[in-house]
Amino acid sequence: MNANTEDNRNSQVILRQVPTGLLGPDDFEVRQAPMPTAGDGEVVVEAHYLSLDAALRLIVRDSKDFLFRVEPGDLVRNSVAGRVVESNNPDWAAGDYVVAATGVQNYGISDGSDLELCDITQAPLSAWLGGFGVSGLTAYFAIFDECKPQPGQTVVINGAAGAVGTMAGQFAKMAGARVIGIAGGPEKCKWLVDELGFDTAVDYKDGDLYEKLVEAAPDRIDFIFDNVGGSVLNESLRWIALRGKVLMCGSTSQYSEEEISGPSQYIWLGTMRASIQGYVVYDYADRFDIARKHMAQWRAEGRLSFPEHVYEGDVPDFGQAFHDLYSGRNKGKMVVKLPAADT
Ligand SMILES: NC(=O)c1ccc[n+]([C@@H]2O[C@H](COP(=O)([O-])OP(=O)(O)OC[C@H]3O[C@@H](n4cnc5c(N)ncnc54)[C@H](OP(=O)(O)O)[C@@H]3O)[C@@H](O)[C@H]2O)c1
Repeated sequence: MNANTEDNRNSQVILRQVPTGLLGPDDFEVRQAPMPTAGDGEVVVEAHYLSLDAALRLIVRDSKDFLFRVEPGDLVRNSVAGRVVESNNPDWAAGDYVVAATGVQNYGISDGSDLELCDITQAPLSAWLGGFGVSGLTAYFAIFDECKPQPGQTVVINGAAGAVGTMAGQFAKMAGARVIGIAGGPEKCKWLVDELGFDTAVDYKDGDLYEKLVEAAPDRIDFIFDNVGGSVLNESLRWIALRGKVLMCGSTSQYSEEEISGPSQYIWLGTMRASIQGYVVYDYADRFDIARKHMAQWRAEGRLSFPEHVYEGDVPDFGQAFHDLYSGRNKGKMVVKLPAADT
């Protein structure tokens, strides 16, 4: 078994309470649990990277409406990237690098059915949680299958400097579109243009967003790739093009709000014969392999990067890292890198 298990340390992050406002360290407690051992058909997964997912804020709300929930007293659910350290399952061997849904803890048990094998010659292990994982896949199918922008069309991506937005912008550029990012702060906006090739980027925290969009997109907006909802979506709707489309990928701005509010500027959808469409990446699960083949090739050719923000820490740091995510500290996918990480 791995050297990191010598002290039998298995810290687990438990939801302490239903949060109000931003989710942060006070909403969690850290419990020490015994090292798990694999039963029949089971494997033990050692976490190397913890995924930070904006959607967690939605699933800890006190609401019965959502499919998945984490309730006070529960281990926080999320994905990790790590390694199988013990296996009683013929499909998995000790040493396999995997993505697993074992939650925020150093070691978790899986029956193997939820594991994904990671070929780290295709992409680094951490990227399997981000650009090469759900975030990148979300962006890939949203751009190439749902939006299909044509050269000359304009795509506005909000939450542009985040895990999904950074990938969506790169893909929309590959499709030949004019790409405008919306992000918080001048430094992020400059980075989107200089490092990721966005045509321009707009800081939604500074000045009149609508006026800035009119200036950046003189021919109006053909596609709104919506990660955040709220006022950012609302202002964008006022400038949607004829037969434009809003792809509703997420609503980060609303997840921490007591009352979720919809966009009052929806009236432009009628006038402009535009549409708004929901979207879930798992509808494309049978094509994830194909998408990854393309992404690996584009990365090898230097045309695609997997931006990530690595928080060096351990399991107890999860709450602070999550708070940082919602405070906009990340550029690209945020992960917590744990001491066990060896790649
Ligand atoms: N449909 C699907 O299948 C699918 C799959 C994966 C994720 N999603 C959704 O996609 C969205 C983006 O996910 P992600 O992983 O890429 O997260 P992310 O963008 O990396 O999340 C954090 C970012 O959200 C922004 N933010 C925080 N509060 C905000 C607010 N009040 N208004 C506007 N922006 C705010 C911050 O950026 P700024 O500094 O720019 O404010 C922050 O850096 C989420 O809503 C998630 O639920 C959907």
